[in-house]
Amino acid sequence: MKRTLGVCYYPEHWPAERWAEDARLMREAGLTWVRIGEFAWSRLEPEPGQFAFDWMDNAIDSLGSEGLHVVLGTPSATPPRWMLDRFPDMLPVGPDGQVRGFGSRRHYCFSHAGYRAESAEMAARLGQRYGGNAYVRAWQIDNEFACHDTTLSYSEPALQAFRQWCRDRYQTPDALNRAWGNVFWSMEIRSFDELRLPNGTVTEPNPAHVMAFRRFSSEQVARFNRAQVEALRPHTDAPLIHNYMGREVSFDHFEVGRDLDIASWDSYPIGFLSDRIEASDAHKLAFLRQGDPDVQAFHHDLYRSVGQGRWWVMEQQPGPVNWAPWNPAPLDGMVRLWGWEAFAHGAETVTFFRWRQAPFAQEQMHAGLLRPDAAPAPALTEVAALAREIAEQPEVSAPKATVAILFDYPSAWAWEAQPQGRDFHYFELVLDTYRALRKLGFSIDFVEASGHFDDYALILAPGIATFSAEALARIEMTDAHVIAGPRTNAKTSEMAIPVPLPPALPGLDTLVTRVSSIPPDASVPVVGGGAFCRWFEDLEGDAPSKLTTEDGRPALVETGNLSYVAGWPDAVLWRRILEDAADRTGLTTEQLPDGVRIRDDATHRFVFNYNQQEAFYRGREIPAGGVASWPK
Ligand code: GAL
Repeated sequence: MKRTLGVCYYPEHWPAERWAEDARLMREAGLTWVRIGEFAWSRLEPEPGQFAFDWMDNAIDSLGSEGLHVVLGTPSATPPRWMLDRFPDMLPVGPDGQVRGFGSRRHYCFSHAGYRAESAEMAARLGQRYGGNAYVRAWQIDNEFACHDTTLSYSEPALQAFRQWCRDRYQTPDALNRAWGNVFWSMEIRSFDELRLPNGTVTEPNPAHVMAFRRFSSEQVARFNRAQVEALRPHTDAPLIHNYMGREVSFDHFEVGRDLDIASWDSYPIGFLSDRIEASDAHKLAFLRQGDPDVQAFHHDLYRSVGQGRWWVMEQQPGPVNWAPWNPAPLDGMVRLWGWEAFAHGAETVTFFRWRQAPFAQEQMHAGLLRPDAAPAPALTEVAALAREIAEQPEVSAPKATVAILFDYPSAWAWEAQPQGRDFHYFELVLDTYRALRKLGFSIDFVEASGHFDDYALILAPGIATFSAEALARIEMTDAHVIAGPRTNAKTSEMAIPVPLPPALPGLDTLVTRVSSIPPDASVPVVGGGAFCRWFEDLEGDAPSKLTTEDGRPALVETGNLSYVAGWPDAVLWRRILEDAADRTGLTTEQLPDGVRIRDDATHRFVFNYNQQEAFYRGREIPAGGVASWPK
């Protein structure tokens, strides 16, 4: 595999006379790819049925003739204003019942069949026109599904589609009533037409209702994507890609990924640290201009799995962004570091967002590789250096890791529907697990919870709400050491408590008999060091306790190669649990210095220093924001 770099470009933002010069500068910087088109609907079809492709022909030609490969986006994230005259009911509706209007982007409801067909039609037209164009080497469908909280929409089309979804799933209102436990609070319905969406209730809606709506909404995203995939496939052999977001679990990315060829994601390390990551003020200060040392890698590894091995970073932060509460500039070296980190985790391509900072509209404060006046911005030098470095590196592919984390989007919805403790977030539970593994030097794969996990020595399965019978059979068969819990199998697929009680794992004689959520300043300490935070479960049964709490309750029980953790471990407890598991499975661990992380690819070890000062790894000095690598 050859590693390549690219950039996001908006030819419609600049005079046509500038395109050739921009293309030349991109090539000189060592870029291979240029992504265009994903917001250009109002220029591609200015009036309904009147298409204007000439300018796009010229833009693709200007870029392609300079040797650049084009990623062409379908523009469905930004329906033009006239589309609303055609489909006044296509706008998404928030949980408060407010219509979310025109004037920014993503103003469509995934359930609107008319808009879905229009966007597939536009994809087909682009496919007809550019599917055979030698410069168009990949396609991006839409842009960041779910962005701006758009997966869930409480519109009339969503209501009608949800009723149909429930008819298909439950067949009769009685079956739905039974499945959801609607006898509680007299919530029974007599016909599917009486069914509402789970918003606007006096107090909390039935979690089974919420969970059904979450499953439905996730399927609507996949269906919307699939309509465009099916429209494009007949016209092109180029890979189809979507750019997913960071910390976004509102739809099942694995399901969308199965219809595509490559997964990509949009990486904004400093924006995420400021806006999307739970961390102490000290942590946020220490990594203010670098981003969290584990968050980028977490998503790289997750999306490698969503892409079934093939993945890109489609948007990489190049400087200050505009959308986080605070937007500091990256520390010198970080743009290069983020790029290398993605490659070390197996990325094929890293594409920077964006080429030139726009002096107008919403993102005028968002840096690019060029300043608004077209002079080079600081990141361009680092990008050009990265381009030279990857050109000199041998072609490699990512090896399979020895450790896997099972990941499950429906579990995120289950624990949002019924967190039971305000800070019980599935994403954070998995991130904590990942962080603990990485601090011990592991390279990690993610595996879909319903998927195969052969060939791993150690498998972590935190917080999986419902394991399928097949997954349980795999757990029973595997030789790997499996660490499950907390909240494993704690719900049926209809969001009820199963009886017999959880975790119901094969061969493990333990029952969760009571659960406690734990507020931020409290904890349940464990004998020998570490504690549970956020969540603790009382366990009963004959499975031997390997660890106990200071007040004598089981903290980790184990039978054979299966362990169950009775809560949300803090960093110290995670380290103890993982070091012990590594010892038993013959895996080696090392305690990495703060802010230093490693990653092994097929041939090299990479070391990343996320600190604002130099760090030492095995006697080697790594500068602040620096990367080192050597053959394994
Ligand atoms: C992404 C989005 C881009 C741009 C960027 C700014 O979420 O896909 O279009 O808005 O953020 O950081």
